[in-house]
Amino acid sequence: MIPFDYQPRTRIVFGPDKIDSLGALAGELGARRVLVVSDPGIVRAGHAERGLASLAKAGIEAQLFDGVEENPTTANVEVGAAVAKRYNPELLVGLGGGSSMDCAKGINFIHTGGGRMHDYWGVGKAVRPMLPMIAVPTTAGTGSETQSFALISDAKTHVKMACGDKKASFRIALLDPALTVSQPPLVTALTGIDAIAHALETYVSKVRNPVSLAFSREAWLLLSENFARVIVDPDNLDARAGMQLGACFAGLAIENSMLGATHALANPLTTRYGIVHGQAIGLMLPHVIRFNGAEFGNWYRDLLEGTGGANGYADAESGFEGLADFVAGLARTAGLPGRLSLCGVERANLPQLAAEAAKQWTATFNPRRVGEAELLSLYETAF
Ligand SMILES: [Fe+2]
Repeated sequence: MIPFDYQPRTRIVFGPDKIDSLGALAGELGARRVLVVSDPGIVRAGHAERGLASLAKAGIEAQLFDGVEENPTTANVEVGAAVAKRYNPELLVGLGGGSSMDCAKGINFIHTGGGRMHDYWGVGKAVRPMLPMIAVPTTAGTGSETQSFALISDAKTHVKMACGDKKASFRIALLDPALTVSQPPLVTALTGIDAIAHALETYVSKVRNPVSLAFSREAWLLLSENFARVIVDPDNLDARAGMQLGACFAGLAIENSMLGATHALANPLTTRYGIVHGQAIGLMLPHVIRFNGAEFGNWYRDLLEGTGGANGYADAESGFEGLADFVAGLARTAGLPGRLSLCGVERANLPQLAAEAAKQWTATFNPRRVGEAELLSLYETAF
């Protein structure tokens, strides 16, 4: 019997064109002044404009901050916090991919608690109440909309800081699958692989529990079934909806059981080589499944049995090896390179990367112990 403590903190509103209810939902939370945090690509796609129109229709004043970059930095957060200080909003909206949602959390930490981003690195560092926030994800990936962590990179060292606090949970996640149709094919693939990794890493995490398992299973079912569909048929709204819900449920799984070695290995690849998160994840995940499967193969088999081979590829009989092949196949389908050597990584740097991966907090949740030596051998296998 595994004890747990779970309180749902995020109301989930789902459906096509639900973006048009942003104003009404912000009004329900009592807001009359809203800061919308987004990035230039999302603004160009017209999504921010639609959100702003809905807010205006509800009689809510709004200011747009579109200074978010991919892998948002402390610099992005500081500029956004300065805007918030001038504008004095009553509510924040994170409208975009994981970067916009995480940046909104970061801005909220500093706006309400003062100091700098580094002060919130870790868990539960916010001492004052935070402003209510609404998430409007436009990718199906990070699951930031349903978890209380913001990943913010130090603008100088590029080290990713995981800043988590239950108060930083979005009050509402507004899931409109129509917004995810505009994702470029590469973004669809990279964010989709990341979401799949979230489902699989949380399912075998050391601190997994009945709540996290329920979310991991459903996330896996939705994501494994719909990944290939959104790659070959990007306008398929049902497939997009499946990916969006899968990513959201995977976020809830992270909230309840954290991640594992794949994310520990991926972060230094992003920091050192600028390899996009989803790609770094796609490179490492099959190898981590094989590594973990050697001791926890029955867990992966249980997952495959539970989902009944519904995706048509990985079934329980093929076990963790089949699962690792399936995941590697998904990355191939999306046209992603399969080896570190194809991404500009030099073999001589693997020990340094392993030393950095060993310092990642997320590694401590991996079911099999991973120290520097194990992480190095995982990098070597993927080279
Ligand atoms: Fe991730």
